[in-house]
Amino acid sequence: MEVIKYTFPPHGDERGQLVAIEARKDLPFEFKRVYYIYDTKDGVRRGFHAHLKLQQILICVSGSCKIHLDNGYETAEVVLDKPNEGLYIANNMWREMYDFSPDAVLLVLASELYTEDDYIRNYDDFLKMIKEQGEN
Ligand code: TYD
Repeated sequence: MEVIKYTFPPHGDERGQLVAIEARKDLPFEFKRVYYIYDTKDGVRRGFHAHLKLQQILICVSGSCKIHLDNGYETAEVVLDKPNEGLYIANNMWREMYDFSPDAVLLVLASELYTEDDYIRNYDDFLKMIKEQGEN
């Protein structure tokens, strides 16, 4: 599976680093929502869903975590451990997040506002949908 990562150039100087991400300019979509996951307890695995429409960029702005991706045919395990690197997750992609370091802050830029209607939370339903799309 092709894993798409974006590297955002840090504006570094003797004071430290600054990363800026502009909608339209730096990403393949315009983000409408930002959320972040932190204080994740040891051994937690979360996500376990795909989205019908939503596209996202995941950036581990502190610490590290891993992302399991599954497009219904292939899987990938992606390490996120750089504050200036973003993982692109398209729609129709099953994802699970795991191995969070205690200091991990996972920032997510999302193309749509939050709506439960966009979630596929059952893995068998996800596989069925992917296979049906492949037949058309
Ligand atoms: P949840 O979907 O369980 O997170 P994950 O996919 O990482 O396992 O979301 C946790 C809670 O936060 C749940 O009650 C829904 C809520 N939530 C919002 O209110 N807005 C959002 O944008 C997101 C992503 C979640």
